[in-house]
Amino acid sequence: MKEKIRRLLKERKAIMLAHNYQPPEIQDLADLCGDSLELSIKAAQTDAEVIVFCGVLFMAETASILSPDKTVLLPRKDAGCPMADMVTPGDLEKKLKELPPMPVVTYVNSSASVKALSTICCTSANAIDVVNSLDEKEIMMVPDRNLAMYTGSNTKKKIHIWEGFCPVHDRLTPEDCKKTKENHPDAVFMAHPECKPDVLELADVTTSTSGMIRYAGESEKKSFIVGTEVGLLYSLQTANPGKKFYPASAGMECIDMKRITIEDIARSLEFMEGEVKVPENIRRPALKAVQRMIDLSQ
Ligand code: 13P
Ligand code: SF4
Repeated sequence: MKEKIRRLLKERKAIMLAHNYQPPEIQDLADLCGDSLELSIKAAQTDAEVIVFCGVLFMAETASILSPDKTVLLPRKDAGCPMADMVTPGDLEKKLKELPPMPVVTYVNSSASVKALSTICCTSANAIDVVNSLDEKEIMMVPDRNLAMYTGSNTKKKIHIWEGFCPVHDRLTPEDCKKTKENHPDAVFMAHPECKPDVLELADVTTSTSGMIRYAGESEKKSFIVGTEVGLLYSLQTANPGKKFYPASAGMECIDMKRITIEDIARSLEFMEGEVKVPENIRRPALKAVQRMIDLSQ
């Protein structure tokens, strides 16, 4: 099956992108693994004709926004993101009417139609820089309340918070973390900004998934507690074979990030199944918000 995928990737002039949470066999096959920001940048730069996105729907949509002339395939249509579904364009428009005019900073974990209503996008890797790049003092951040609170505590801006959250990160408790820290007293605790504020208070480092891979690689420390989706442990261990990584809680698994299988990828490439295409009337305004973020991050 893996040979078949390699052959099909060549035949179709395709590139395979995988998020850091994807299962090991998919990460091993991919041309590039990364966090949401790295994958967006790669999707914008590649000259491949087809992008097979191993992640969730909002990531494939972002690739389609950036590369309208390429075919973007999501091997499983049901790989979504519950947090992205916590804000609809209608609800956002209603909320914005209740507030004085202000820029909207939208986490990439959102639908293309919500991005289309936004001033600029952000990821977990650049949220603070994105907010600080804006002149206005009051800013609306959607949909992740935890990322918004974390950003708010690291800027002088007044942040208006949307009540969305990632069910995987939001269920990590300070008690879980304290217990894991007791079991591994020398380990550095790295947490993702999608975690709750009381968890982030206990963290030594708060950063994106690829930020954790870089931090662990550069650190002199030998052991790390990982406060994010458990799929990242494989990427961390592969990049740092001499170091030890422990999940902050074993329950942090995102079922959506585990839906795509090797068989799904082969079928998708063979029959060009699972195309994701953002309609032009949504793509154009969404592109402005995504491109503004990419320009800032490069
Ligand atoms: P990053 O890889 O950008 O840190 O994002 C985490 C995430 O939840 C993606 O769904
Ligand atoms: Fe969405 Fe959370 Fe899964 Fe990421 S880990 S795809 S934010 S539900």
